[in-house]
Amino acid sequence: MKNLWYKDAIIYSLDVETFMDVNGNGIGDFIGLTKRLNHLAGLGVTCLWLLPFYPSPNRDNGYDIMDYYNVDPRLGTLGDFVEFMHQARDRGIRLIIDLVVNHTSNQHPWFQSARSDKNSKYRDYYVWTDNPPKDAQDKVAFPGVQESIWEYDEQAGAYYLHRFYKEQPDLNTANPEVREEIRKIMGFWLELGVSGFRIDAAPFLIEPLGMENAKREELHNLLSDMREFVSERRGDGVLLAEANVSPDQIPLYFGDGDRMNMLFNFLLNQYIFLALAREQAAPIIEGLKTLPDTPHTGQWVNFLRHHDELTLDGLTKDEQQEIFAAFAPDETMQIYGHGIRRRLAPMLGGDRHRLELAYSLLFSLPGTPLLRYGDEIGMGDDLSLEGRTSVRTPMQWSNTQNGGFSTAPQDALTRPVISEGEYGYQQVNATTEQRDPNSLLNWMERVIRIRQQCPELGRGKWCILETDEPSVFAHCCEWEGNTVLTVHNLAKQPCTVTLKLKDFKPKHLMELFANRQYEPFDGNSSSIEVDAYGYRWFRSDSVL
Ligand code: GLC
Repeated sequence: MKNLWYKDAIIYSLDVETFMDVNGNGIGDFIGLTKRLNHLAGLGVTCLWLLPFYPSPNRDNGYDIMDYYNVDPRLGTLGDFVEFMHQARDRGIRLIIDLVVNHTSNQHPWFQSARSDKNSKYRDYYVWTDNPPKDAQDKVAFPGVQESIWEYDEQAGAYYLHRFYKEQPDLNTANPEVREEIRKIMGFWLELGVSGFRIDAAPFLIEPLGMENAKREELHNLLSDMREFVSERRGDGVLLAEANVSPDQIPLYFGDGDRMNMLFNFLLNQYIFLALAREQAAPIIEGLKTLPDTPHTGQWVNFLRHHDELTLDGLTKDEQQEIFAAFAPDETMQIYGHGIRRRLAPMLGGDRHRLELAYSLLFSLPGTPLLRYGDEIGMGDDLSLEGRTSVRTPMQWSNTQNGGFSTAPQDALTRPVISEGEYGYQQVNATTEQRDPNSLLNWMERVIRIRQQCPELGRGKWCILETDEPSVFAHCCEWEGNTVLTVHNLAKQPCTVTLKLKDFKPKHLMELFANRQYEPFDGNSSSIEVDAYGYRWFRSDSVL
């Protein structure tokens, strides 16, 4: 039997730097994270994804790495990491870490050697040219803040490729020695107990840009190599790729089940926001139908927001404008032309009903759900901070100084804690919400608990139920003889909707979860009542 633990996982992503500071220097650390593991275990998280925590000059929030085999001294030591791993494992929490090998920092010793010595073996670790192509501007990842993807290096006397900031030279993944380095890095962290890796910028890892001599097939095979290596070293090890690509490209990443185990569901993510903006179910249905089939071992990771901008690049300009108008009307809320740099709670106007609806959707959609730190308490954003930093402020633990994140003086904090307005730590924090039985935090614990009782959602076959109400999204997931049925009303008007149950004749339908107590619906009649922004979850259990 294959170990498909990730299909039942509740993933939570966080950045050690902004989670909890124990030594009082204003920067989160591994000791702080370890102390907060009980919060995560209590919430029901089963797998953490840690953003890069390696030594880095921090040009790109740690995604510019100087040393793959260490912990950034600002965050702790390797010893602290191992202690954290041990404590996480004791609570049944697994760990996935970011593997950023599309590029290194320009401060990495490999690049230092490559640029200063043409004969260095590291020269061929990077991608060089004497004549950069003219269309280099079109391909920048950060329009407006990055001018080109080729940078002239005086010392090297040549241009190097950088898909992201110029401080992040791209590695030459066609070079077998670079591939060997990638394996070694994975082997190191697997040995320390991680359950897998989030593959950063996967499409750029395997693109032939600047490596025209490399065979496309061989580049793509990097994904199979990585998977083979991980599986050999750790049978239940997984790879989760960041690949925001069109549906026809997806099979490249899953392979025949011999490449990535999981992909972030960028496609569905954008359609969910379109559906929320229009208050209509059709975009979610379209999004789901656009997804290609996955192999048995393949899984989608569904999310609403993460640490980057909410990218809408898969939608038309008009659709993007609809979403901007609904959730990010001010230009300061937008970024890179097609992105939004806001957290979910402020996007939805702090409306608790809409927030519950959005998260209920997230947890019920087929796949594995991903939550981001601070989502559980409804944290806001700080638009006065530059770029994507707006959604990367410290976790708000309590209503004490600096939101309980750190005892350092305010001006020594790695980033300011949100301390004003509706989303200030005085109101929005874990401790206050824990005391309040009606808080978002307590609701989130409940939805996660219910989700964990419904393995059908992570593992089953899904189908969409037709309804006579455009604002209602109804779907069910079936696995091993049981079915979960959920109904979501995306509109601000309540409704009574008729579900076209067709062949679906649920037996012993039990209501598991809803935005309030409704009159029972047992599946015998097909009309069902749902509040404005309401939701209802049912499960038919053959064992009952
Ligand atoms: C990924 C990360 C993003 C980073 C980029 C470059 O897209 O999510 O934060 O800037 O890779 O490493």
